[in-house]
Amino acid sequence: MKKIVVLTGAGMSAESGISTFRDSGGLWEKYKIDDVATPQAWRKNPALVLDFYNQRRKQLFEVEPNMGHRALAELEKKYEVQIITQNVDNLHERAGSSNILHLHGELMKVRSTGPGEEVYNLTPDNYETHLGDKCPKGFQLRPHIVWFGEAVPEIEKAEHLTTQADILVIIGTSLQVYPAAGLIHNAKPGIPVFLIDPHEITHLPDGITVIQKGASEGLKELTEKYL
Ligand code: OAD
Repeated sequence: MKKIVVLTGAGMSAESGISTFRDSGGLWEKYKIDDVATPQAWRKNPALVLDFYNQRRKQLFEVEPNMGHRALAELEKKYEVQIITQNVDNLHERAGSSNILHLHGELMKVRSTGPGEEVYNLTPDNYETHLGDKCPKGFQLRPHIVWFGEAVPEIEKAEHLTTQADILVIIGTSLQVYPAAGLIHNAKPGIPVFLIDPHEITHLPDGITVIQKGASEGLKELTEKYL
């Protein structure tokens, strides 16, 4: 079976009703990155940061995977599919994809701020985290999210997985955030690379087939025309 590696970003979940970060009306127009998504923000106002992620989780229960997520799960009938996502939602999982690497963490997990950095699953019945919520060893719990300025622990695994791709598909990412945006350079030279995004993405390496459509329609075109 050929291996397809799919790199997804916020645009993948846009049709489910989760706003992207950098489009007009996106999350970073409503919030400042420096207030909610950096280690400095956590030190300055942890309650605000926790509340921001509690809201993101609440939204997650109000949305469903879209046709694009489902199309990727369906692709597993014909291909080995590895998803590498920058998204912290769980919509790929809920659509039925089997192999998902979360580069920027996961909303439904929290982590101890103690030296062990143990990770714990949240549940739909108990998804909020507040100041004073501690791990069994007594350390405050924080969102299991890779904030700006933090290392991306899964990047080496993602790079290795990308080198194994026979086909690379990039969906719904502005390719502005590194190291994720650099993964494209780990693909074997000459393999087919597709990019699905309704807006124009500039500064792309040569040889990429661009499908300028939203995730659902774009994946339909990809499967019908190219796979
Ligand atoms: P961005 O908000 O930067 O980019 C979203 C991309 O999705 C843009 O290129 C849009 O054109 C595209 N898009 C919009 N609607 C779409 C649709 N229906 N179908 C397909 N694509 C669509 O989001 P990311 O590139 O994912 O990190 O951002 C990368 C990281 O920056 C995120 O993981 C997050 C953010 O700050 C953290 O929070 C750590």
